[in-house]
Amino acid sequence: MAEVVVVSDQEAAGDLAAHIILDTIRRRPEAVLGLATGSTPLSTYRRLAQQVKERSLDVSHVRGFALDEYVGLPHDHPESYRSVITRDVVVPVGLNPSQIHVPDGALAGIEHAGADYEGSIADAGGIDVQLLGIGTDGHIGFNEPGSSFASLTRVKTLSEQTRRDNARFFDDQDDVPMHCITQGLATILRAGHLVLLAFGEGKAEALAGAVEGPVSASNPGSAIQLHPRVTVIADEAAASALRHVEYYRYAYAHKPSWQGF
Ligand code: F6R
Repeated sequence: MAEVVVVSDQEAAGDLAAHIILDTIRRRPEAVLGLATGSTPLSTYRRLAQQVKERSLDVSHVRGFALDEYVGLPHDHPESYRSVITRDVVVPVGLNPSQIHVPDGALAGIEHAGADYEGSIADAGGIDVQLLGIGTDGHIGFNEPGSSFASLTRVKTLSEQTRRDNARFFDDQDDVPMHCITQGLATILRAGHLVLLAFGEGKAEALAGAVEGPVSASNPGSAIQLHPRVTVIADEAAASALRHVEYYRYAYAHKPSWQGF
């Protein structure tokens, strides 16, 4: 079962997620981080940047892999995930850009970009801690409903719902790319620790499906139930559809201190 932690707001969630990452880096300075984009991880990245600065931590050996990228957007487009990861994570946290990887969404070579990315993750020794958000349709990464639990990094077609949800980052919904390249569900499940964040009522149903629903390819987030080490961090609104929320609160309140994060 995933550990579910219900927090008061996004800042508290970011604080906890950042401390999970910091603990990973403390134990392993060359840690490999799995980096999500979108709105959800922003408070985590802010808190991480603040802590790295305050504690003068050396993060020069940390490596990172983005979850996904749009296909066909120029690398320097402000909403390409390469630009977003640089702006929201690499620069503020002070990571070494040469050690941060994003799937290559360029059309030239797209047929082998997924396999190349899997090769780079394998060469790095795998991902230690993977940050995840969840889409309103239940996707993690950009694994839309129906994605195989055996899937690796590959090109997917974004659902209309996801393109609508992401239209806020573009001038027009038609500007949201139709295709993406995303780590697969099997790629995500290979990471050492999954940290899934969810905020707001709009995520309540997707989160309940992921944590408590049937494990089904129709509900990609439910793949987390197959992973032995998952921390779900949700605000009250996102946690509002969880049937066993009182048990999760009870379990977290009585968490043995030796278990750490
Ligand atoms: C982002 C990603 C997506 C988002 C999800 C939620 O790299 O893979 O799964 O986490 O679409 O997006 P936000 O956080 O913007 O609500």
